[in-house]
Amino acid sequence: MSADYTGVRRIGGQIAKRLAEQNDLEGAKAIQGMLRKRGVPLQASGYAEALPRDVASRLPLVEEGQWPTTPAILGGEASHAISQFIEDAKHIALLAEKGVSARLGLLLFGPPGTGKTLLAGHIAAALERPFYIARLDSLISSRLGETAKNIRGIFDFVPTRNAVLFLDEIDAVAKLRDDRHELGELKRVVNTVLQGLDSLSDDVVTIGATNHPHLLDPAIWRRFPYKAELGLPDSDVRNALWLHFLFEGNEKRNKDAQILAHVSQGLNGADIENLALAVRRRSILGKEEPSLAQIILAIRASHSGSPRLLDNREITTADKKVVASLLHETGNVSQSDIARIVGVSRQMVHRYLNEETDG
Ligand SMILES: Nc1ncnc2c1ncn2[C@@H]1O[C@H](COP(=O)(O)OP(=O)(O)OP(=O)(O)O)[C@@H](O)[C@H]1O
Ligand SMILES: [Mg+2]
Repeated sequence: MSADYTGVRRIGGQIAKRLAEQNDLEGAKAIQGMLRKRGVPLQASGYAEALPRDVASRLPLVEEGQWPTTPAILGGEASHAISQFIEDAKHIALLAEKGVSARLGLLLFGPPGTGKTLLAGHIAAALERPFYIARLDSLISSRLGETAKNIRGIFDFVPTRNAVLFLDEIDAVAKLRDDRHELGELKRVVNTVLQGLDSLSDDVVTIGATNHPHLLDPAIWRRFPYKAELGLPDSDVRNALWLHFLFEGNEKRNKDAQILAHVSQGLNGADIENLALAVRRRSILGKEEPSLAQIILAIRASHSGSPRLLDNREITTADKKVVASLLHETGNVSQSDIARIVGVSRQMVHRYLNEETDG
């Protein structure tokens, strides 16, 4: 009622999350859609959210992210590190009182598409704090000399909101090492980030993310006492990802999810999500659900970097041989399962695999 736009969004986000937990995805989406309509009614009442802005372009330097409604599926070690971080953050007052608090800085690192941004949103949700995303690369591409001002703008703003500050692409300052910039400027930018981080009180939560931890300035690395590596998903995580994104958590399909996990080694979470959604779109719009063999062919194509459109075409004998040998190579799929998936007899599977080794 007092045009507290951040408050409206936070509570709206809580409601959406609760609806999603109760499986009312439609309701959750509707509320999120309303929240995304940035400030229409409130702006009309004369309220404009005071986000820090780039001096020259007037574009906001941070954006407020939504609390995610899809789960983050993590391997044991990463999930342990994250729970510990959340627990410490929730009890920061007690830890400070006992003199054992650490700055609430968490660095997430790992290859693209492994859920770093998603996870940062989950942490904000778990702490029930608004989630502000700042992309260091976009701050730096603005005009020379204004970079430092922008960085300071962000670090001045966040403590006023009791928020989670997410610094995406935090390695971006390393990109300044090219010949367009002299070393002096790189140092100044790094120093501004360091000063910004140091200016925060212990209860401000900052999460940094990078795909290139080795490019990160060691002084910045040290400013994040908590670290979690999000690597490419292992077999168990891939299994859970397929089960969630393709089979909507239906445990009866766990065996199929397991088989897809075996053949999708090397794919990241975002790849698996995209493939799974493509399959579900075809299931809805096509005549029948794509078969496991067709999905496996699509996985193979996405490995080789030439995504294949899923279709309901009959698969050829050559395709069957490819699928059989892929499944066989995993060492985890029995010949009778291979026969079922490929749709031929076990003798035929046997023959395919022998042809393979002969020639
Ligand atoms: N471990 C995971 N659990 C659940 N979903 C995942 C996971 N990894 C990726 N995804 C899906 O892929 C999408 C993209 O992931 P996200 O943007 O979080 O990756 P990222 O690590 O931040 O990548 P980048 O380094 O490119 O920014 C997520 O929104 C989610 O839908
Ligand atoms: Mg990201």
